[in-house]
Amino acid sequence: MSKKYQITCLPGDGIGPEIVEATKVVLNAVAAKFGFILQFNDYAFGGAGIDKYGNPYADEVRNAVLNCDAVFLGSVGGPKWDNAEVRPEAGLLAMRKSLDVFANVRPLQVVGALTAHSPLKKEIAEGVDLVIVRELSSGAYFGTPRHLNETDALDSITYTQEEIDRVVHYAFQMAEKRRKKLCSVDKANVLASSKLWRKRVLAIAEKYPSVEISHEYVDAMAMHLITRPKDFDVIVTENLFGDILSDEASVLGGSLGVLPSASFNSKGPFLYEPAHGSAPDIAGRGIANPIATMLSGAMMLRYSFSENEAADLIEAKIAEMMQENRLTVDLNRENPLTTNAFTAELIKKIETR
Ligand code: NAD
Ligand code: IPM
Ligand code: MN
Repeated sequence: MSKKYQITCLPGDGIGPEIVEATKVVLNAVAAKFGFILQFNDYAFGGAGIDKYGNPYADEVRNAVLNCDAVFLGSVGGPKWDNAEVRPEAGLLAMRKSLDVFANVRPLQVVGALTAHSPLKKEIAEGVDLVIVRELSSGAYFGTPRHLNETDALDSITYTQEEIDRVVHYAFQMAEKRRKKLCSVDKANVLASSKLWRKRVLAIAEKYPSVEISHEYVDAMAMHLITRPKDFDVIVTENLFGDILSDEASVLGGSLGVLPSASFNSKGPFLYEPAHGSAPDIAGRGIANPIATMLSGAMMLRYSFSENEAADLIEAKIAEMMQENRLTVDLNRENPLTTNAFTAELIKKIETR
């Protein structure tokens, strides 16, 4: 009997359904090749959830998210729901919280032809190989008190020692398996939450003597990321800083459309989603770059299902597409492929490997 994996699939809004559909085709192709079955169970989530259930994260969806082998997400949000009482993005945060996914891993490599697409000089971008580990379940996104009225607004950045420790341990362990360099990003010259963050990183560092630790303030880090990105291996930071720095890092490789992510908790199910959003400006035109979503799919095969060969194959064939400049318009203006044409060429490569 073939192994069968239950995936709760949330295509979402904007380009979400387009890139998820393309990714399913690719994942099913490798599944057939390696003899396993992927069962995608689709649910309306985000703006689509508001339209269907009056709730971006309805109870039925929550139940499916908490009871599956992995959760696969496109993207949520769009102008249609910008003034909704509960926005699609609130559903996304509630979903991450319900899964207790605290470590959001966003890996980026700038190799081969991708270098040509980087807005940076070749010698700066070529060979970048870094991972951002973003704390995903606390900080400004979830802090209380919080309020908004006509004349004033309040957000709170809160972190407990336990919340910091678990993601920092995760990042140190990842650094141990890579080039043994960890950079912690904070704003400890100003923020109380960052002072606690740095104190915990310094204490935990003693348990990982083989890892070289550095600390940067987030403003300086925004600059280091584009002036000397090759110096970084694993970067760990709090939720809001990680959100901002990961969009910045993504374009080292030319486009936000290439940055995948996986989000981990202590016991699964894990969550996989591209780092970018629903791109309302290009939705419905069949031109979205599906690479970030497909690479998130490869991460799902590897980290949730241990189907490593299948994951390797997707990554290798996407790398070939990059080498050959067979890419969507965000990366190839002169001779672009549509989302579907990219997917068809990739499938051909997978089937004739
Ligand atoms: P965005 O990431 O959707 O788009 C930013 C820019 O990058 C746009 O010009 C877009 O066309 C381009 N882009 C993004 N992904 C692309 C892809 N795969 N291929 C080609 N181009 C791509 O960010 P935004 O415009 O600030 O936000 C739009 C909506 O998405 C908002 O409602 C926002 O809240 C939401 N959002 C959702 C997620 C998520 O679901 N995880 C993440 C980020 C933003
Ligand atoms: C991301 C997105 C989300 C975030 C938004 C849509 C809530 O920007 O996944 O990076 O800020 O976490
Ligand atoms: Mn973001």
